[in-house]
Amino acid sequence: MILLGIETSCDETSAAVVENGRTVLSNVISSSKALFAALAGVIPEEAARKQVECMIPVIGQALKEAKVERSDIEAIAVTRGPGLLGSLLVGTVTGRTLAELWHVPCVGVHHSIGHLTSTWLVPPGGFAEEIRFPILTLSASGGHTDLWLREGHNRNRLLGRSRDDAAGEAFDKGAHLLSLPYPGGPSISKAAEGGDVQAYAFPHPLSGEKSLDFSFSGLKTSLKYLLRDHPEARDDLSGVCASYQNAITRHLLDGIASALDRHHVLEVHIVGGVSANTHLRERAAELCSRHGVILRTPLTLAYCTDNAAMIAAAGYFLIQEHPEEAQKPFATEASLALS
Ligand code: KG4
Ligand code: ZN
Repeated sequence: MILLGIETSCDETSAAVVENGRTVLSNVISSSKALFAALAGVIPEEAARKQVECMIPVIGQALKEAKVERSDIEAIAVTRGPGLLGSLLVGTVTGRTLAELWHVPCVGVHHSIGHLTSTWLVPPGGFAEEIRFPILTLSASGGHTDLWLREGHNRNRLLGRSRDDAAGEAFDKGAHLLSLPYPGGPSISKAAEGGDVQAYAFPHPLSGEKSLDFSFSGLKTSLKYLLRDHPEARDDLSGVCASYQNAITRHLLDGIASALDRHHVLEVHIVGGVSANTHLRERAAELCSRHGVILRTPLTLAYCTDNAAMIAAAGYFLIQEHPEEAQKPFATEASLALS
């Protein structure tokens, strides 16, 4: 079954063609991140305006790169929330209209379920390894940091989530404090190269608590005070970045380790923009090998950050497992909860 996926939840406009929920025939992502580089954030109206301009060309490009015709598309999957309302509407209105014109169903997908499915994506010519539930998935991006226990594609239990900033937000806000470019994850990670992870002490958030929640705002505040009270630390940028990055990843890994102590799983997945982080991946690989579980992260960087291929894949599994639910009309919702 071939699906067209559409994702416009934040500043990106993405369209993808995915076969059977796994093989990515194309995954086109047009981002207006560069526009917002100086701002440490996104201006919603600007983002939506850009998306209106490039939505149709991006879909055209996705069909072309996948070498498929409109008539090959059997369903459309589109992100219905959560995200920026104006941006989401560009995607859902486009998806519904095309579905009407092409006489195919249009399935609404929760953005987070899209991220959870990103580890199923395989680039063209790649080998689709068997993936086995139960799975512990850490989904960490600029908007959320969630720990999930997954018994199936549509059987997910939230074990913990960030009480304040998301992990990606900690990178983004930290980069802003350090005058590094947005998005902060890649810039802090690059600046941290060769730095001493022990150079500066950062707190262990929520240590001593039983909950599997996260909290990142304290780390950001510690960085702020470090730079205020020790301005000379700016001369050791790699040390500051390495220590800050290590504190964020250590907190994420502590959450995974605690969950592994309490729940039996066969695999650990790390998804979302922050899963692109090399330091996190290396430390997670050590942790998972100690626990004897398989670690998976999305196979390419494009599947880590927001992309339409993961939405198409999640739409596919929804249609396969719950065909009636997939057919239901859906609303576009900026703050969509997981039912
Ligand atoms: O999933 P995503 O593309 O968008 C959201 O749904 O938020 O994630 C973007 C976030 C940003 O906060 C960015 O700083 C972070 O992912 N990110 C990274 C890296 N690449 C992107 N964080 C740490 N290390 C990276 N290499
Ligand atoms: Zn995302």
